[in-house]
Amino acid sequence: MRHTDPYDAIAVGAQFYELNHGAQVRHRVESLLPHISPPRVGVLDVGAASGTPTLAMARTWPGVPVHAVEPSRSMRIALLTRIAEEGDLQRQVTVHPVAAHELTRTGFVDLVTAFWALGMVEPDHWEATLNALVGALVPGGALLTESSLGEAEEDAAAVQDYRGSTRLGEHTIEHGGHVETAPDGSGYGVFTYRWLDADGHLLYEDHDHYEHRPGHARPDLAGSLEARGMVAERELDDPAAPGARLTLWRRPAT
Ligand SMILES: C[S@@+](CC[C@H](N)C(=O)[O-])C[C@H]1O[C@@H](n2cnc3c(N)ncnc32)[C@H](O)[C@@H]1O
Repeated sequence: MRHTDPYDAIAVGAQFYELNHGAQVRHRVESLLPHISPPRVGVLDVGAASGTPTLAMARTWPGVPVHAVEPSRSMRIALLTRIAEEGDLQRQVTVHPVAAHELTRTGFVDLVTAFWALGMVEPDHWEATLNALVGALVPGGALLTESSLGEAEEDAAAVQDYRGSTRLGEHTIEHGGHVETAPDGSGYGVFTYRWLDADGHLLYEDHDHYEHRPGHARPDLAGSLEARGMVAERELDDPAAPGARLTLWRRPAT
């Protein structure tokens, strides 16, 4: 039996993913899709999580098979529940419960999307992941993803903190992150979630922990795609991250 638990390190945060990011992700994907030529063969959405981009694409392009890749069990619970709720999409959307590098099928889509997902790929699986994504495309197909995955800062070592909160009826979910990265790219992140009642009493508190090894989330994305024959066709502003860009890559037709 396959164990998908390594990919479930995000289980605590997964329960709050839609509450904290759903509206932003929806705005992002709805702003981007009108700028993309409609696929005809199929779509592969890598790192589908709770499925907001996957389902938006399925609704936008009815009749086009949509494949979602999601290795995290907790994210798949949300994804499969939403697909089941939208009964008409259940025949259109196929879910692959694997990591992207484990996909073996080739030449079955003309659009691959990877929204906020490639930065999570383990360095050991980076080359195989890109082979799978490019290999999934028919000649002439397109790949849309962030233009960069957070290159190393010049001074390398960095500490990032953030805090936010979300209302849920009478309650408030506070969320915060602390990420430390050493000059060699290694480090760790702790994400904390605190669920407070109307009087501010703590009802639930939990944490996600991540460790990253040297090189994690700092691959040369453009160079890696060019080395596989992909051609950068167009840049798009990222509606979810001011100043950030996405790139539409094309696999040459011949
Ligand atoms: C930050 S979420 C992004 C979700 C979604 N694409 C969106 O825009 O809201 C990243 C997702 O990628 C998944 N993921 C992590 N490693 C992966 C891998 N090697 N292959 C495919 N998906 C992966 C995670 O489980 C997570 O659900």
